[in-house]
Amino acid sequence: MMENKPLRKAILLAAYGASNFRGKECLRNFENQCRIKFPGVPVRWAFTSLPIIERLARERQKSDSIAKALMKLAYEKFDIVAVQPLQTIPGKEYEDVLAHVAYARDNSGLCCEVGQPLLNNAEDAEIAALALLADLPGDRKGDEDVIFMGHGARHPAAHLYEKLDAAIKLRDSRVHIGAMEGKNGLNEILPRLSSRRVWLIPLLSLMGKHAMEDMAGSSPFSWKSRLEENGHECAPVLHGMAENEAIAEIWLNHLRKAATCLTGNKE
Ligand code: CO
Repeated sequence: MMENKPLRKAILLAAYGASNFRGKECLRNFENQCRIKFPGVPVRWAFTSLPIIERLARERQKSDSIAKALMKLAYEKFDIVAVQPLQTIPGKEYEDVLAHVAYARDNSGLCCEVGQPLLNNAEDAEIAALALLADLPGDRKGDEDVIFMGHGARHPAAHLYEKLDAAIKLRDSRVHIGAMEGKNGLNEILPRLSSRRVWLIPLLSLMGKHAMEDMAGSSPFSWKSRLEENGHECAPVLHGMAENEAIAEIWLNHLRKAATCLTGNKE
């Protein structure tokens, strides 16, 4: 008679990648929150950025692509893997994750499910809006403008940034969701600002190049420099969304949903 072996489960978290200290700290903080929610389940990381994977390899640091991480898990005889990407919208990067996971699944026999990104619908936008508003800097005065700088995209899913902006504005009209690409760039936001001091917060999962250079860097093209050039005093907040506990919780709830799909409710 065949014995019923318990299925071996693992979690794979996927991020753009981190090669600097602050970025890695963001990953660690998120991973800790994940381990608390899923005690005893092995947690691995995969990066989606090839340049970062290559840089880490040159520095002899370990990093895996999604396909490689899944193949390793299959080799280690895991059966099911819930994958959670730390992305904001279901855009191009998310579609790539789905494709890599599908490839690895077909080639390994692993059973995989991918959790949804942060924003998928109006309901997510509501929850995320509350999470962002709950985590505004304590020093921010009620009449001061706050800009969350997202990545943005030229992709149909980018409308979810506007949903988030609308959900936030219902509660605090001085908080703006901006994006580096597509709609709601800084040029669109500048005329809506009315306070001298403006807070600048990354709507990005990790502290990486976009947050440190494009948002808070000293080049004349950074959002900080452009705000200053327009007469504002800029107060950048340097943390990744993966470190915002309420936001991390949304990703982890999406992971929970994916894991439940795989195991059929019995955890
Ligand atoms: Co980018």
